[in-house]
Amino acid sequence: MFLDHIASQLLVLLSVVRLSLSYPYQAQSILKHESKITPKIVIVSMFQPEEEAWTTKIDFKHNITVPGLSPMYPYFRCVKDYSICQFTTGEGEINAATSVAFLLSNAQLFDFSKSYWLLAGIGGGDPSKVTTGSVTFAKYAIQVGLQFQIDSRELIDSHPDWPAGYFSYGAQNPWDYPDSVYGTEIFEVNEKLRDRALLLSQNHGTTLNEGTEQNINLRQLYESPANNPPQILACDVTTSDNYFTGSILADYYNNLTTILSNGTANYCSSAQEENASLEAFIRMAKVGVIDFERIVIMRTISNFVKSPTSLHMDPIDFFLNYPKGGFQHALDNLYIGGWPFVEDVVNNWDSMYKEGHDFKPDNYIGDIFGTLGGKPNFGKDKYSIS
Ligand SMILES: *[C@@H]1O[C@H](CO)[C@@H](O)[C@H](O)[C@H]1NC(C)=O
Ligand SMILES: *[C@@H]1O[C@H](CO)[C@@H](O)[C@H](O)[C@H]1NC(C)=O
Ligand SMILES: *[C@@H]1O[C@H](CO)[C@@H](O)[C@H](O)[C@H]1NC(C)=O
Ligand SMILES: *[C@@H]1O[C@H](CO)[C@@H](O)[C@H](O)[C@H]1NC(C)=O
Repeated sequence: MFLDHIASQLLVLLSVVRLSLSYPYQAQSILKHESKITPKIVIVSMFQPEEEAWTTKIDFKHNITVPGLSPMYPYFRCVKDYSICQFTTGEGEINAATSVAFLLSNAQLFDFSKSYWLLAGIGGGDPSKVTTGSVTFAKYAIQVGLQFQIDSRELIDSHPDWPAGYFSYGAQNPWDYPDSVYGTEIFEVNEKLRDRALLLSQNHGTTLNEGTEQNINLRQLYESPANNPPQILACDVTTSDNYFTGSILADYYNNLTTILSNGTANYCSSAQEENASLEAFIRMAKVGVIDFERIVIMRTISNFVKSPTSLHMDPIDFFLNYPKGGFQHALDNLYIGGWPFVEDVVNNWDSMYKEGHDFKPDNYIGDIFGTLGGKPNFGKDKYSIS
């Protein structure tokens, strides 16, 4: 008994020692920075291949463990002078929102009030707007997953005209604007800054990676612009945890972005994170932790969201088995397309970016509710609360 007691006391003592070893260890790495870390620009990746697009090119000297980041991606990395940093959220809306929220909550470690943000990921491309390998810069991020859903096979007799099995909250049919919204359906970011990043990327003179022979062959099966070499262009991104493929949903979501944005968004890429990250950003922008004017959204196109009409093929077979050439060119083009802006922020920090006067937005920025003030040119005056 007594020995047991001593043993259990020892165990308690040991765990205290272990705790005090691990906490000061973490505290030490925090204390090493005499002042807060103030990145000039932070690159936000969503998963490992996107992360490697940057970590293989930029010499990140510091790996900082930040509580609340994804267990798969626990580090916030920075170059020697902390001007350029990078972290990875994990994929999907939940991981994106949670990781961004925890990062921005670390007020004792970071001062992000003047930081620029480059959300840089790969995504699916609509062949009526883009081709694979293209670098796209968005003004709008649209969340298309917030919908009622019914298997469309149940509608064949009753609603043969419905394009798919989805319709918006509070709506009676797929063509109606939602009457009930969650507030994350659509975000608009700074157009002037977007255009700066776009122009720098277009003028840089580096050519994009066009991809493998298979990538090029696949493009040839589509019509223009999908059969062209990759381009650098402005167009918008959708967010949905649901990874859709096929022409019906591609066209349906294309139409839905037109409805949700009141015809102002030009959707070309689909991904799984932007709106979620933007929701975390907007909440912290509201309290001054970050500046919502300083966000740039870039997606490079890794795949087509639908098969070419010239190819008469089972869509599942096309999605899973058709030789498409991989997505390495989209990963390479993240760096090629995004680096000119990263470099510009650092090189022209004092003259242009620190105060950011040249990039005061002319357009509305924020969400569907006008959380940061101003009035969006999308959305309705009133919604019913559900
Ligand atoms: C940072 O972490 C990565 C692994 O994610 C590792 O490869 C790299 O060497 C680390 N760098 C430093 C400076 O510890
Ligand atoms: C993301 O934001 C865009 C507009 O900025 C919006 O259209 C889209 O619905 C949002 N997606 C999510 C998942 O919030
Ligand atoms: C999309 O909109 C166009 C034009 O209004 C319409 O012809 C087409 O049927 C719609 N497609 C889907 C899938 O909603
Ligand atoms: C957007 O479209 C909806 C549905 O047609 C309409 O009720 C709303 O007033 C429009 N919003 C703006 C800002 O034009």
